[in-house]
Amino acid sequence: MLAGCGEVEDTRPGQPVKHRQVAFKEIVKTFEPMGVMLRKGTYDADKFLPLAEALLAKRDGPWAYFGADTNYPPTKSTPDVWKQPDEFEKNKKAFIAATDALLAAAQSKDKAQVDKTYDAVHEACKTCHKQFKER
Ligand code: HEC
Repeated sequence: MLAGCGEVEDTRPGQPVKHRQVAFKEIVKTFEPMGVMLRKGTYDADKFLPLAEALLAKRDGPWAYFGADTNYPPTKSTPDVWKQPDEFEKNKKAFIAATDALLAAAQSKDKAQVDKTYDAVHEACKTCHKQFKER
């Protein structure tokens, strides 16, 4: 097929792989600017809060697109997503809980809490990717 061209199109009906990848990119669009603020030392509680709210609004996006039989190119998921659904679910729940805590911290405008809970969300992304996403 499109070998050599880099991008493989998701040609299946409903494009579940494409949809979940786009949904993850939407998550990054909210998560990345928070990280930049914290790393650069430009934390501004009034700018941070809407980003945390946007993350909450986007966090459920990918999951419905991990249906059975959706492990095909161009997926970057590992087979474990379908072999170990309970573990995948556990990682998802940990991520949801971590984003709840981040929002609460953002609302409190307590910088130390924001730092701590942001790091915890980042850990939740990394932990899940380690087992469930190809690198
Ligand atoms: C419960 C597991 C899990 C959590 C939590 C998770 N991801 Fe992912 N992520 C995946 C899987 C699986 C894929 C691969 C999707 C595919 O291609 O089928 C992925 C793909 C991605 C991609 C690639 C999208 C593309 O271009 O194809 C990005 C970027 C990403 N995740 C960012 C994040 C960020 C940032 C977080 C945390 C804020 C996060 N993810 C949390 C499992 C997770």
